[in-house]
Amino acid sequence: MTNNKYHSVVVTKRGGPEALQVMENDLRPPAAGEARIRILATPVCQDDIAVRVGNRPFLAKIPFVPGYAFIGVVDALGDGVTNVAVGDRVAALTNFGGYAEYIYWDAVGLVQVPETLDPAEAATLILNYLVAYQVMHRVVAVRPGEKALMIGASGGVGTAFLQLGKLAGLEMYGLASPAKHGALIELGATPIDYHTDDFVAVIRAAAPGGLDYVFNGMGEEYFELGLAVLRRGGVLVHYGGPESFGRFLLLLGKFILYNLWPNGKSIKGYGTHRGNVAAFADDWAELFALLEAGQIRPIIAQKFPILAAAKANALLESGKVTGHVVLLAPELM
Ligand SMILES: NC(=O)c1ccc[n+]([C@@H]2O[C@H](COP(=O)([O-])OP(=O)(O)OC[C@H]3O[C@@H](n4cnc5c(N)ncnc54)[C@H](OP(=O)(O)O)[C@@H]3O)[C@@H](O)[C@H]2O)c1
Repeated sequence: MTNNKYHSVVVTKRGGPEALQVMENDLRPPAAGEARIRILATPVCQDDIAVRVGNRPFLAKIPFVPGYAFIGVVDALGDGVTNVAVGDRVAALTNFGGYAEYIYWDAVGLVQVPETLDPAEAATLILNYLVAYQVMHRVVAVRPGEKALMIGASGGVGTAFLQLGKLAGLEMYGLASPAKHGALIELGATPIDYHTDDFVAVIRAAAPGGLDYVFNGMGEEYFELGLAVLRRGGVLVHYGGPESFGRFLLLLGKFILYNLWPNGKSIKGYGTHRGNVAAFADDWAELFALLEAGQIRPIIAQKFPILAAAKANALLESGKVTGHVVLLAPELM
């Protein structure tokens, strides 16, 4: 912030990372019920890229500031806010707005974040670990010794799945590019190269009785192969966002068809947009405690200053990342 101004990174047109431009804004006092927060850390995720490029059925109007979540410090409060105080470290799941030096947010949507946590690591819990945790413990209820396949295992959500899956005692298989297999092995999973290997055959040979779960962060094109590796009674949980309205309809059609199909297997869906802070707060508290205890250790592939979001997006879009990419306030770099 300089002279009551602050900067944000704005999507100015549909397209590549060059569509992200730094803009200057006026800092204003927060409205009633609002908090003004100085952002410390914001994760960069695949959905930030999808909404910029236009790969989602329902898109925000341009210009908009991407950024699905943040960790920050409350800087000013509007009238009537009692649940947070100036100086508190807080977080929120925003969907948009995190690529900025400051954000204005309805105070009831904020949760307290322990000061002891590293902001970059904590930022990965708000979206990526939340998705993995809620899929495994809310959508289904995994138990030690059960077997699961993670599709998209090397990315931000995927590596969170593997760390939380190991803690839950799962036997895990993960689809990933060969360069990332070492990381999967370290995280306790059996890696499978989906580019060259028939993963259904590999899993059927390793686990002839079938898997209990498939966690699919990619598209509906994985439904048939995912169902093929499940045992009777097994569940495929889909959490990947559809790329277009047509793909959304296809996804819905396959959900209905495969849940009616009498094969004893089912498909469930998960999306953070269906929840709110009340539905997430307990799970974030559990994740903060796991991080504090050293039981999870987010793999931060690279950190960038917030205003270098275009470079961070280019890196994630390259497909070379194992783990998470995080944007940080300059003093944390
Ligand atoms: N429902 C929700 O609320 C929610 C929330 C967050 C994210 N998501 C979804 O979760 C998915 C992952 O997001 P993320 O931010 O973790 O992405 P990410 O960090 O970019 O990781 C995605 C990984 O998927 C792998 N991949 C790419 N194409 C693949 C394919 N055809 N088959 C198998 N693996 C493939 C790539 O690794 P390799 O090089 O190893 O192939 C890539 O690193 C996205 O679809 C996103 O929309 C959903």
